[in-house]
Amino acid sequence: MALETTAVVSAARSVIGASGWLMPKTAARLFGMDVSKDVSAALFLRLGGTRDFALAAAPLCKRVIAVDVSRPMLEALRDRAATNIECVQAGFLSYEHDGELVDFVYTRNALHHLPDFWKGVALRRVAELLVPGGILRLRDLVYSFGPDEAEAGIANWIDAAAVERPEDGWTREELVAHVRDEYSTFTWLLEPLLERAGFEIVSADYGTVGAYAAYVCRRKSSRA
Ligand SMILES: C[S@@+](CC[C@H](N)C(=O)[O-])C[C@H]1O[C@@H](n2cnc3c(N)ncnc32)[C@H](O)[C@@H]1O
Repeated sequence: MALETTAVVSAARSVIGASGWLMPKTAARLFGMDVSKDVSAALFLRLGGTRDFALAAAPLCKRVIAVDVSRPMLEALRDRAATNIECVQAGFLSYEHDGELVDFVYTRNALHHLPDFWKGVALRRVAELLVPGGILRLRDLVYSFGPDEAEAGIANWIDAAAVERPEDGWTREELVAHVRDEYSTFTWLLEPLLERAGFEIVSADYGTVGAYAAYVCRRKSSRA
């Protein structure tokens, strides 16, 4: 499937909001597809992504594979799943692909569960699932400041992002636990990992609080 990179990038920037909800037409724009054309060649892989994203992609794609280590996350999707969504209980490091290479991989707020060494291994595994020129859309909690700015950067982020009530988002306690217990890394460490894994970074958006990053990456034809 031929993809206009500029279309993918501009659409990807505009349509993915914090909620992760995408209507099918918007998902089509994300993929840079003209919905009137035959899109049956599209294979789409969601790795620890969102339920809504997989549902939005389903009408546009021949095959959608929703991968998550968490059974409850997959059960929630299965309840509403379209017939072409396959749910696979596996992770970045254990998923075994069967069939044609995929055109797109989407992952949101999942890669930070792996330490950096394993992020590199995971990204390489993702690159190997994609057709040359295929697109990885990666969103995660990633720090876009230097180590000398870490204390202030984390404090600014938590002050800006924490909510009072858990039903409204992430509380201060949850964000503190994230920094303490999970493996969010720096953008300037993640980006070389992406490149070494075989991706060209087409766009990077760090948002405004220094703790989120959204990338559109294209699988290079060769890993040189
Ligand atoms: C913070 S939740 C994010 C959920 C959803 N992606 C979102 O953005 O709202 C992290 C997700 O990553 C999944 N996850 C954790 N470790 C993973 C791994 N090694 N491979 C794939 N998914 C993983 C968890 O099961 C969970 O669904």
